[in-house]
Amino acid sequence: MEKGIRISDLFRNEQDYVGKKVLVQGWVKTRRDSKAGIAFIELNDGSSLRSLQVIAQLDHDDYSELLRKITTGSAILAEGVLSASPGKGQSVELQAQRILLYGWADPALYPLQKKRHSFEYLRQIAHLRPRTNTIGAAARVRNRLSYAIHQFFQEQGFHYINTPIITSSDCEGAGEIFRVTTLDPANPSSAVPENPYLNDFFAKPAFLTVSGQLQAEIYALALGRVYTFGPTFRAENSNTSRHLAEFWMVEPEMAFFDLLDDLELAQAFIKRLVGVVLNECQEDLEFFARFIEPELMGRLQTIARSDFEVLTYTEAVDILRKSAEQFIFPVEWGTDLQAEHERYLTEKVFKKPVALLDFPRSIKPFYMRVNDDGETVAAMDILVPGTGEIIGGSQREERLEMLLEQMRLKGISAEDYRWYVELREFGSVPHSGFGLGLERLIQFVTGIPNIREVIPFPRTPGHVEF
Ligand code: 4AD
Ligand code: MG
Repeated sequence: MEKGIRISDLFRNEQDYVGKKVLVQGWVKTRRDSKAGIAFIELNDGSSLRSLQVIAQLDHDDYSELLRKITTGSAILAEGVLSASPGKGQSVELQAQRILLYGWADPALYPLQKKRHSFEYLRQIAHLRPRTNTIGAAARVRNRLSYAIHQFFQEQGFHYINTPIITSSDCEGAGEIFRVTTLDPANPSSAVPENPYLNDFFAKPAFLTVSGQLQAEIYALALGRVYTFGPTFRAENSNTSRHLAEFWMVEPEMAFFDLLDDLELAQAFIKRLVGVVLNECQEDLEFFARFIEPELMGRLQTIARSDFEVLTYTEAVDILRKSAEQFIFPVEWGTDLQAEHERYLTEKVFKKPVALLDFPRSIKPFYMRVNDDGETVAAMDILVPGTGEIIGGSQREERLEMLLEQMRLKGISAEDYRWYVELREFGSVPHSGFGLGLERLIQFVTGIPNIREVIPFPRTPGHVEF
């Protein structure tokens, strides 16, 4: 099979290719014919936002018949000489000597027309939407961030581990879990009343993981510094612009780290990721700044430079209660902050990322370390403008007695989590970690308002297409 050059490489080293013969393959964005008998084809191969202009002669001996058929959405090969372009909007163009049509797209039926389509419409054609500028750019940014996440941790001696997707534990204890079963709900007779799981695959309740943290802790207490990065599932029945039923989370877990070490790592991590996209996804970011979020570049540059604002939950509650802002949900010490409160703090009060520490013990999961006041735990939430919470983390309770008390208070069976308790019996050490939602991060760096646009195939209540 013939293989051409990626259009992004061509643009990157334009001067090396001018005057030379090149071969490109991709999909036609637009095609327009001039009165002078020339076809202008915008060809995109997904390697970059920019398309390559292909100039073809309508009366060319070799391809004129074929050229007539080429429409928006068609997949083609074009070979010819790259030359400096006299036209506006591009520096080089390809003078086609040979054209090949791989797959035609019927213009009467192809759903992507030149006009702008709504995101809602594009979700219904998720098999074609990566060919649009926004979704293509989001996919490239997602790819670059995923790679940067591995680079960041690998450079610092972290070990990448894979935690299970099917699990019998419920890390966050919020009950928003998907069950995994082979029993047929349409045929309940397969379940035995006295032991409903007897005939089930695992012979006990099993779920899709809500977090790899508990298993990451096991490996942190052996390998020192680890991270897990994979799909995570939550059956939250919330139809918001920042919740998915299936999302990707990166979770570092470190032995001998306290909460402040954890915070320092999270801050370095976010700054690094923002720096990477600013440097390496420039073209895509400029597109987002132009069409989606005008303040994007300034916001990202500020974050790459300045430190996070750090305050306690209690201080945040004070600020919120004293503010003149009309919130839908009232603020009271002891209740969880809502998205509107998070966004007020990070967008209006501090105008930069905010790290909130030391949340009330009663609203956080059992594994967080109890502070000396007995009322709060060593928790950390990181909030960013536009998105709200992107990181949740904590120092873990490493003291056996305190962990058992926490489990008792939260109604968690020490028998079911025997292994977790044993980690506190055999060589327990202070340790900490956090979880970053990849999709929330992409929303934050692109300004894309709805989380459904930053994952290829979003799963939300009522939606599991593709
Ligand atoms: O704050 P969360 O629930 O923390 C944990 O799961 C910890 N076990 C992490 C750890 O300490 N290892 O979730 C972490 C992050 C959130 O801050 C958010 O970015 C993302 O995961 N997240 C979601 N993203 C999209 N859709 C959802 N339904 C999400 N729920 C959480
Ligand atoms: Mg959280």
